[in-house]
Amino acid sequence: MPTPTPTPTGPLVLVTGGTGFLALWVITQLLRQGYRVRTTVRSLSKSAHITSCLHEAGIPSEQIATLEIVPADLLADAGWPAAVAGATYIQHVASPFPAHAPSDENELITPAREGTLRVLRAARDARAVKRVVLTSSFAAVGYGHAFEYEGADSERGFTEEDWTDLQGPREVLAYPKSKTVAERAAWEFMDDTTKESSAADKQKQKQKQPFDLVTVCPVSILGPALGKEDGTSFRTLLELLTGNAPGIPKLHWGIVDVRDCAKMHLLAMTTPAAAGERFLCIGEGALWMEDIAKVLRRDLGEKARKVPTRVLPNVLVRLVALVWPVVKSVLPELGHEKKISNAKARNILGWEWEYSSEQAVVAGAESLFKFGILQG
Ligand SMILES: NC(=O)c1ccc[n+]([C@@H]2O[C@H](COP(=O)([O-])OP(=O)(O)OC[C@H]3O[C@@H](n4cnc5c(N)ncnc54)[C@H](OP(=O)(O)O)[C@@H]3O)[C@@H](O)[C@H]2O)c1
Repeated sequence: MPTPTPTPTGPLVLVTGGTGFLALWVITQLLRQGYRVRTTVRSLSKSAHITSCLHEAGIPSEQIATLEIVPADLLADAGWPAAVAGATYIQHVASPFPAHAPSDENELITPAREGTLRVLRAARDARAVKRVVLTSSFAAVGYGHAFEYEGADSERGFTEEDWTDLQGPREVLAYPKSKTVAERAAWEFMDDTTKESSAADKQKQKQKQPFDLVTVCPVSILGPALGKEDGTSFRTLLELLTGNAPGIPKLHWGIVDVRDCAKMHLLAMTTPAAAGERFLCIGEGALWMEDIAKVLRRDLGEKARKVPTRVLPNVLVRLVALVWPVVKSVLPELGHEKKISNAKARNILGWEWEYSSEQAVVAGAESLFKFGILQG
């Protein structure tokens, strides 16, 4: 691992979507570890936001000045070859993550899938890339199932062997569908490359690949924002803290702190044994929404005065979803306790979470006040 220096000299890492909540923390940790970083944005007008967030993270100005910011859109070919040129690693984090499902699911599926393939093709053609880390999601793992891991199977929990079942008994909405389709397309691309390379045995072909792929599948990411951030990760906290929520739905929320999630991305990038693997990314565990509300009231005091206390029966939540769109996307999950394992990440990557679920919730909520999204 490169040593931290004011002027990074380590390998060049491309991080896609540098404006994003998670990507900003991935960039921060890469710079802290001495990597050179290039990031893509849809619009260069957002460059100032990125640099101000890196200042907030405590990155020295001379190091921030080394960050390259280049334009590239997941929906267009332009910019990707230049973005990838000279990179040793790619962290492909960008993907649309809206708070509300669009009327046309392809608004999410097309950029998620086609954007991933654009990045992988550019990586293959550049030939200097050693590894691509793709930010997938638990949304590509644990949706559409009949919740067979409850009851007798509850000790097993969801693992990396599981895939969201797009033909399963429960509806899969646009966002989980986009993440599932994009991750599947990425693994299929790697298989195709393997087939193209030669007709010899699979292991030999695998070794001939120009780069390898690792996917990270986080549950809900919370924790501190580095700037004014009211994106999807913060929607539920906003609904609770503004008192918009008429009550608390029975939802079990898998949580990882953004700092721990970024740490896993860096380990996934450099751990040799991670090649060709996917990793679930969950910290201490999941919390019921009722407990999240309690933590907010306990730690934020007066700022949390509007957080509701009443737990809503499921039948009522289904009615509420008609006027509270953020709930609609989780209706299939109502009342289900999901067990999710982080054993593989701990065993292969040596990853450990540092921030508890409660700390991630409170840090996320504090960010909303710190950057003026909410007034105290
Ligand atoms: N946050 C979570 O709870 C969570 C959980 C699991 C997985 N994930 C995954 O983690 C990744 C980052 O999520 P996040 O929470 O950081 O979301 P975010 O803050 O909304 O960031 C999304 C990023 O994707 C970029 N993007 C969207 N559409 C694009 C397009 N057509 N072309 C280029 N860039 C585009 C956005 O750029 P603009 O600034 O231009 O919009 C932004 O930089 C995503 O892949 C998401 O699916 C997130």
